[in-house]
Amino acid sequence: MAADRRMLIAGNWKMNGLRADGLALAGAIAERAGQVDCDLLICPPATLIAPVAEAMSGSPVSVGGQDCHFEDSGAHTGDVSAAMLRDAGCSYVIVGHSERRIDRRETDDEVCAKAKAAHRAGLIAIVCVGETETQRDGGLTVETISTQVERSVPPGATSENTVIAYEPVWAIGTGRTPTPDEAQDVHEHIRTLLRTSFGRQTADAIRLLYGGSMKPGNAGPLLARPDIDGGLIGGASLKAEDFMAIAAAVG
Ligand code: PGA
Repeated sequence: MAADRRMLIAGNWKMNGLRADGLALAGAIAERAGQVDCDLLICPPATLIAPVAEAMSGSPVSVGGQDCHFEDSGAHTGDVSAAMLRDAGCSYVIVGHSERRIDRRETDDEVCAKAKAAHRAGLIAIVCVGETETQRDGGLTVETISTQVERSVPPGATSENTVIAYEPVWAIGTGRTPTPDEAQDVHEHIRTLLRTSFGRQTADAIRLLYGGSMKPGNAGPLLARPDIDGGLIGGASLKAEDFMAIAAAVG
């Protein structure tokens, strides 16, 4: 990691946790937050954002949403706007997670619109990209990532309002990961793309997270690679001990 990018360890709880579990997990993370040298973020399910954000106020742990609508308000039953997330205590929102790109057929254009909505609301957008196993096996990783980054990251992205997460779809929840060198190669490619679109200074300051089966046992070597500036963690973020062991692996 470049010295001027502070590591971000982010937990994506997905559709897990009722109030008591969520508050206990967040509390255990906050309790140990002072022992690690990185930014910490937790993204609970929508129902838990407000109580978790309230419990985290005054702690160094940030709270984020897992998705937002691309419009600021209106007739969109069941959806949540970026401004609502901000109002509930969020400072980040994940957009374009592969589970939404696949399950909800979200396109790059929609993901870009969601990132813009996040920026309008004053949230930091974590824009997710990643290739499927078929794309990887077909030698299409670079092409897939290039298209996703070029179309999903909005103009106006800066290191203050945008984080990018590289999450190979085949690594999410499977226990498989690319080697640290393979992950680094993709991160380096993303940084090169960002330099073309946003200039060297901005590109070199934007944090690039790795996600997909990151665990205490594999985090160290991944986080040690020069363009991997943190992690977006699913399964292992549901146990405070594992999540904080990953945070402790930040060198
Ligand atoms: P995982 O999920 O850590 O359970 O693989 C990562 C993610 O989907 O963000």
